Amino acid sequence: DKGTYPFYMLKEVDEQPAVMRKIVQNYLNEDGDPVVDSQLLESIKEADRIYIIGAGTSYHAGLVGAKMFEQLTNIPTEVHISSEFAYEQPIMSKKPFFIFLTQSGETADSREVLVNVKKQGWPSLTITNVPKSTLSREADYTMLLHAGPEIAVASTKAYTAQVAVEAVLAKAIGEYLKHPRAAEFDLKHQLGLVAVGMQALVDSKEKLESVASRYLSKPRNAFYIGRGTDWSVALESALKLKEISYVQAEGFASGELKHGTIALIESQTPVIGIITQDRTAGLTRSNLQEVISRGASVITIVTKHLAQTDDTIVLPDVDPLLTPLLSVVPAQLLAYYTSLGKGLDVDKPRNLAKSVTVQ
Ligand code: F6R
Repeated sequence: DKGTYPFYMLKEVDEQPAVMRKIVQNYLNEDGDPVVDSQLLESIKEADRIYIIGAGTSYHAGLVGAKMFEQLTNIPTEVHISSEFAYEQPIMSKKPFFIFLTQSGETADSREVLVNVKKQGWPSLTITNVPKSTLSREADYTMLLHAGPEIAVASTKAYTAQVAVEAVLAKAIGEYLKHPRAAEFDLKHQLGLVAVGMQALVDSKEKLESVASRYLSKPRNAFYIGRGTDWSVALESALKLKEISYVQAEGFASGELKHGTIALIESQTPVIGIITQDRTAGLTRSNLQEVISRGASVITIVTKHLAQTDDTIVLPDVDPLLTPLLSVVPAQLLAYYTSLGKGLDVDKPRNLAKSVTVQ
């Protein structure tokens, strides 16, 4: 039931702080240590490489998660689109471990990969929102998202839940392997900060609604840019915008713009820069200058300690591994209000189904 909300999507965006708290309750004990199946940890400990598989938004959550696995566990991690991996399996490492990310647990493309993985005898975990879903039943292990039912076609709280559960698992494996970075990573405290930060962002709806109406209501195309983790969020942000508002949006690695795509920038083309990482902030800022000088309308989503006075949306500071949990929220709301402003059916965009059960 969507209660007083006009659309499920808005309700689900608003639920994200509560979902973060639910993940803390379900997966972190009093001391902040992860509570994760020890057999699962033992199985991943044996692995020489983690393969994350997903489609659409779940693939984007995988891109963010891969950095956590590499930094907190030191296990090399690759992320693949399920429909590609199913038919173009790369040369594999000797002891792969597979993580399937899937809100519904029913995506045909991801199921196809799991069937192949099982045939080859490799271990697998499904991270899903739906207990007893097909991918949950067929994998060796399951971790639930605890996000509650997601009804809107555009995935929001499942994305942030996937990222948070990946953080739990990365910390758990890292501690199991005695990797120092994992012990230092105070995930319980950080997810508390994230929940508070998300609340502040969802409370700034009016501002996001006016930014959407001013910059995104008329143009036919838009760009999200960022580097590293911010690029991963740019991909997800662009997907949100295109699927519900029908603005042709692209997520781009900031440094790549000048290698071709900058030709598309015209007067008032919206370019949204995501800036949350110290090492790349200055570079993305220069890339924004390049598009400003070609007439683009620039919107910035910037983490507090990197913010400047004219930034559009400022995010509270959290651990650099977790900034996607905050930077994606304004992007979700910009997509929502752009769609709403056009009078579209936000929850049921044309041509799309909630769960894609064909390849
Ligand atoms: C986008 C969206 C889709 C799904 C994709 C995978 O908002 O919802 O891109 O993420 O179809 O679905 P799941 O996660 O159920 O496997």
